[in-house]
Amino acid sequence: MEKLNHSIDVFSDLIIAAKRVVVFTGAGVSTESGIPDFRSPGGIWSKYDPEDFTYQKFLSSPEARKIHWKMLGEGGLTAEAEPNPAHYAIAELHRLGKLDCVITQNVDNLHQKAGVPEDKVFELHGNMQRVICLSCQRHFPMKEILQRIEEGTEVPDCPYCHGIVKPDAVFFGEALPQETLMEASRHSRDCDLFIVIGSTLVVYPAAYMPTYAREAGAKLVIANLTSTPLDHYATLVIHGKAGEIMSEVTEKVRSRISSSGKM
Ligand code: APR
Repeated sequence: MEKLNHSIDVFSDLIIAAKRVVVFTGAGVSTESGIPDFRSPGGIWSKYDPEDFTYQKFLSSPEARKIHWKMLGEGGLTAEAEPNPAHYAIAELHRLGKLDCVITQNVDNLHQKAGVPEDKVFELHGNMQRVICLSCQRHFPMKEILQRIEEGTEVPDCPYCHGIVKPDAVFFGEALPQETLMEASRHSRDCDLFIVIGSTLVVYPAAYMPTYAREAGAKLVIANLTSTPLDHYATLVIHGKAGEIMSEVTEKVRSRISSSGKM
C-alpha cells in the first residue's frame, strides 16, 4: 500500500508540473462501469472469436450481419453504461485545466458522458452508441436500431435508403478514421505528459500513440491492472484499478492547485 501511495504522489506531481496532458484509455477504464474488456480472463475475446468481427465478414451477407448484431447485443458492447470514478476523475482534470485531450480506443461514449467536451475526445475506434448507413452515410442512435431488433428486425437496414447499416465502431480489417488518427498523433507528439489508463497496448496503430509522445520527449505514465509491452518505456508504472488510482490522483491535484491558488 505504501508503494501505491508513493506512486500516487509522484503521479500527481507529474500532472501538476505538466503543461499539456494527454490521457489515452483502453477498455480497462470502463470495466468498473460493467463493460467487459477484451483480453482479461473472461473478456470479450474469451467468448467470441475476433475473426468473426471483421469488416469483410459483416459486409459478406445478411446472415453474417444477423450474427454480428446478435453478438454485439449479447456481448454487452452496445449497452448504455454509466461512467465510473475513473471517467469522472479524467473529466475533473479537464475542469482543473489539466487535460489537453483524451485519446480513447473505447467505443462506449463514457468520457463524453462523464463531462469531457466532445472536441477533446478522439475516438480512434469509433463510437458504438451510433450507427452509420454505408450507402447514404446518415448516422442514427444505436438505441433506435436496437429497438427495431427487439421488435423482431433481424438485420436492420437504413430507414431512408435501405442501405446496410453498421455500428460506427471500427471493425477488424476496417480503416481507422484518418482525421481522428492524425489529430491524436499530433496531440501525442505535442504533449509533455502522456497517461495510459487500462490498455494492453497491443493493438496498432492506437498503441503507437505513447511511443510518439515518448519520442517527442514527453513523460509516460501507465496505470493498468497488469503489465504492458511499453512498461519499460514509462516514467512511472502503477498497477491497480483505474477508478481508485485516478480518483486519488485527481483529488491530490485538485487540493494542490487550490492551495497554491493557481486555479
Ligand atoms: N483498472 C485498470 N486496468 C484494468 C481494469 C481496471 N479496472 N480492468 C482491466 N484492466 C486492464 C487489463 O488488465 C488489460 O491490461 O485493462 C487492459 C485492457 O486491455 P484490453 O482488454 O486488451 O483492451 P484494449 O487495450 O482497450 O484493447 C484495444 O483491441 O479488440 C480491440 O478494438 C478493440 O479497442 C480494443 C483494442
